[in-house]
Amino acid sequence: MNSLKVLYVCAEVYPLLKTGGLADVSAGLPPALAAQGVDVRLLLPAFPALVAGVTPEGPALPVPAGGAPGLPAGLGPQPGTAHGPNPWLQRGRISANGQPVWLLHAPGLYGRGGNPYLDASGQPWADSAQQFAWLGWAAALLGTGLDGGWRPDVVHGHDWHSGLCFAYLRQMGRAGTPVPATVFTIHNLAYQGVFPAELRPRLGLPDALFQLNGLEFHGQLSFMKAGLKYSDAITTVSPSYAHEITTPEQGCGLDGVLRQRRAVLHGILNGVDNTVWDPANDPLVQPGFDADHLQGKALAKARLQKTMGLKKQADALLFCVVSRLTEQKGLHLLPSVVDELVQRGGQLVVLGTGDAGIVAALQACAQRHPGQVAVHIGYDEALSHAVIAGSDVILVPSRFEPCGLTQLYGLRYGTLPLVRAVGGLADTVTDCSLENLDDGSASGFVFHELGAPGLGGALRRAFALQRRPADWLAVQRHAMALRFDWARAATDTLRVYRQAHAIPHGTAPA
Ligand code: ADP
Ligand code: GLC
Repeated sequence: MNSLKVLYVCAEVYPLLKTGGLADVSAGLPPALAAQGVDVRLLLPAFPALVAGVTPEGPALPVPAGGAPGLPAGLGPQPGTAHGPNPWLQRGRISANGQPVWLLHAPGLYGRGGNPYLDASGQPWADSAQQFAWLGWAAALLGTGLDGGWRPDVVHGHDWHSGLCFAYLRQMGRAGTPVPATVFTIHNLAYQGVFPAELRPRLGLPDALFQLNGLEFHGQLSFMKAGLKYSDAITTVSPSYAHEITTPEQGCGLDGVLRQRRAVLHGILNGVDNTVWDPANDPLVQPGFDADHLQGKALAKARLQKTMGLKKQADALLFCVVSRLTEQKGLHLLPSVVDELVQRGGQLVVLGTGDAGIVAALQACAQRHPGQVAVHIGYDEALSHAVIAGSDVILVPSRFEPCGLTQLYGLRYGTLPLVRAVGGLADTVTDCSLENLDDGSASGFVFHELGAPGLGGALRRAFALQRRPADWLAVQRHAMALRFDWARAATDTLRVYRQAHAIPHGTAPA
């Protein structure tokens, strides 16, 4: 049997370009799918870091603008909306690991500083809609045979950046072009790619799609809603989040659309890339350690205390944060419990970037508690490994959390997660209640109500467990033995691909 061909459309991939967990997923899931026989190719915009890390193969493939001869009139971004000649696709492989990839080049749209979504001054790119419309359009063209030698059976798009490809493909299907099956994955419903309706003609979106039952969202264009309405199947990154986004509290205004599509909405938990996050073989944490040999972890703690300017104190319970510093992550709550944390003999290391108010409040905590609280503002991959390996507890008190990866890394490294019971955090961490300690299922500290009292209570449970060293060790061992593998996520994703491929495509009721 021929292997299933999948075009995997996303905006970032570790280790080349990463702003968050999306990049970890684009690095972890495709090889796990390939290991199960799927022929997966990534499609990303040609951001400079990606161009630098991809070895080109073969000739470039021009990407015609919508309305060109042979293309459905009015579909796709119009000529001249890129700031120069038309875009082109370059096939290649990620030099570090051989992953096949297409990079979409568009002069003026991607080859510039900043990150994929923000300019050098931290503002969203003024032409963000065009950037990702071209990505969607290139995906739709590859999906309908632009590359004569490789035509995907499934187009799998990630987050709003890929959303328009589903709208373009739907229109092509309606016009009689054979289209692939389509799967859309929500990593974070809070970021929706909403743009002024006036952009419609420049993005080549037919008027027929601009309606309540289409990609219109309160009078504007929503790339996220295009993905939700026009894909054959939808996945998101944990079972709990799959349920939560169908409720008004967590649906970000799209819960009604998601309830309509509940029959094809699947929650598939993310995994951990063992080639990157393995305490026994982590080049960034030497010597390594495992559940039966924790000496390396004690050394990592001493090293971290030194690097971060904390008092070298082996028995200080060391809490850490490795995160975007945003309200999503519940980190506005942290400053109000820091005094108690220190007073109980704990220490805190924060590694992150984000919201100026949260940054200032955490820096004030560090000033109040020199030697006990250290804050490093910045994005630092190597330091993130050192922090997670050297700490005792990792804090993820999120307001909402589609999956969350750092709590999984914490489990792996025996750094017990302290989390709020929401989304993927609820699906992956089990509280150290007496009954859970008793039956051996405890793996961390879980609180429910978003607020300082809940967070403070969970902190006190961590200190209480520290006073019971045998129990701490048992929980740590259990946490380190848990496995959240990409192989399982790949099996579930492949099942969704096969289901979507087996039914007549382009049949979503929009
Ligand atoms: P999200 O994608 O919502 O930010 P995740 O937990 O899914 O949250 O993924 C975050 C990823 O980014 C993890 O790999 C984490 O280690 C990494 N990360 C977050 N902040 C930093 C930072 N300041 N420095 C290095 N890595 C970071
Ligand atoms: C998003 C979510 C995070 C998830 C990640 C990868 O960034 O905020 O919870 O782990 O995507 O799916």
